[in-house]
Amino acid sequence: MFQALPGTRDLLPPVTDRWRALVAVYAEQAARAGYGEVIPPMFEDLGVFLRMGESTDVVTKEMYDFEDKGGRRIALRPEFTAALMRVFVEKRPASLPWKVWSWGPVFRYEKPQGNRYRQFMQLDAECVGSGDPDVDVEIIALAADFFASLGLRRTTLKLNSLGDASSRPAYIDALRAYFTANAADLTAQSRATLEVNPLRVLDSKREPDQSIVAGAPRMVDFLDGATSAHFDRVQAGLRSLDIGFVLDPRLVRGLDYYTHTCFEFASEALESAQNAIGGGGHYDNLVEQLGGPTTPGIGFGLGIDRILAACDAEGVFGAPAVAVDVYVIDLTGGLEALALTHELRRAGIRADRSFDQRSMKAQFKGADRSGAPLAVIIGSDELANRSATVRDLRTGVQDSVTRADVLNAIVKRLA
Ligand code: HAM
Repeated sequence: MFQALPGTRDLLPPVTDRWRALVAVYAEQAARAGYGEVIPPMFEDLGVFLRMGESTDVVTKEMYDFEDKGGRRIALRPEFTAALMRVFVEKRPASLPWKVWSWGPVFRYEKPQGNRYRQFMQLDAECVGSGDPDVDVEIIALAADFFASLGLRRTTLKLNSLGDASSRPAYIDALRAYFTANAADLTAQSRATLEVNPLRVLDSKREPDQSIVAGAPRMVDFLDGATSAHFDRVQAGLRSLDIGFVLDPRLVRGLDYYTHTCFEFASEALESAQNAIGGGGHYDNLVEQLGGPTTPGIGFGLGIDRILAACDAEGVFGAPAVAVDVYVIDLTGGLEALALTHELRRAGIRADRSFDQRSMKAQFKGADRSGAPLAVIIGSDELANRSATVRDLRTGVQDSVTRADVLNAIVKRLA
């Protein structure tokens, strides 16, 4: 007996109907904002993802990497952004900004717990090729409106600026000095992180680090004029669209490539350890690191597993009832069930039937289970006089119609 591996799960109907509906809502909103869908492969050359930053757990500890039969170093994608930037560099789209969205499974070898999985689903959007702060606002608004349209209310948008190549070094020096002075009170993990990237110490969720992190210098106090103006404009834009946010000077996020704006959406309806339902930010160097020209971009990744957990917790965006419209009951054992079911499906009606020449009782049970409001019954009398019985399964009322008229009769009753 095999079971799904730790951190993975099987999704079945009606859960899958809900997932499909959620992606459809997102696809519609992304299209409305001018974003086109890109479907990159699920695995890439490992090097693509190494560009995400060497002090990132996602890169150092969590990558599903392996050697393929051709001796290539491969990784299952741990996120979309680096993969999409590889696409950008390879395809060199003619018109900028390049506005794209993607969705699908991503893979991280994390400790499975709560809403943390090793294979989880992300919705992603990226806008590449413009440094206009209005792009940041557009991207954040896309995510915020998506959450709102699902009915989520208990969502907080946290916002920060991480500065840029000119304003960040002074901040990192100040952070390093501060954490070094307080190193004795930091956890061993944070002391190790400090050696590699002092910024990432801010990201520690470990309790003993919290009081030190709380007193750390803030990036906003180190922003230079241009970076500060960019951040002000993003905030003004969000306010003008009535998108609420809180400034979180310690928000650094788990990936190294961010500069300028970074953000995270947290759901208060979920346990705090896994309550990030989405996050993203601006990046200046990712395209260049993948061999392209220096090009700014911004994007987000949203975790579908967690979004739906938040929807459950808030009692919104329930599973759409996807049932069949008609159940065909054939008591003759001939080809009629096959023909009629197919005819209905070709006409765009959701139709199902039973197999194995079950008894009338068993077939009616199947009809009940299918949730269909209507049944079409073909017995030997109906077969002999080229008719069919159409039965309303909720009221029990039934009529006889000619076989040629079955489709019309059903369409009329379903209207
Ligand atoms: P991220 O914050 O690593 O960002 O992931 C985005 C979202 O994926 C998280 O907010 C969370 O909802 C979900 N997520 C992450 N890990 C797990 C997990 N183990 N189980 C379930 N859900 C999870 C990125 O991936 C960036 N690529 C976002 C981005 C796009 N930045 C710029 N463009």
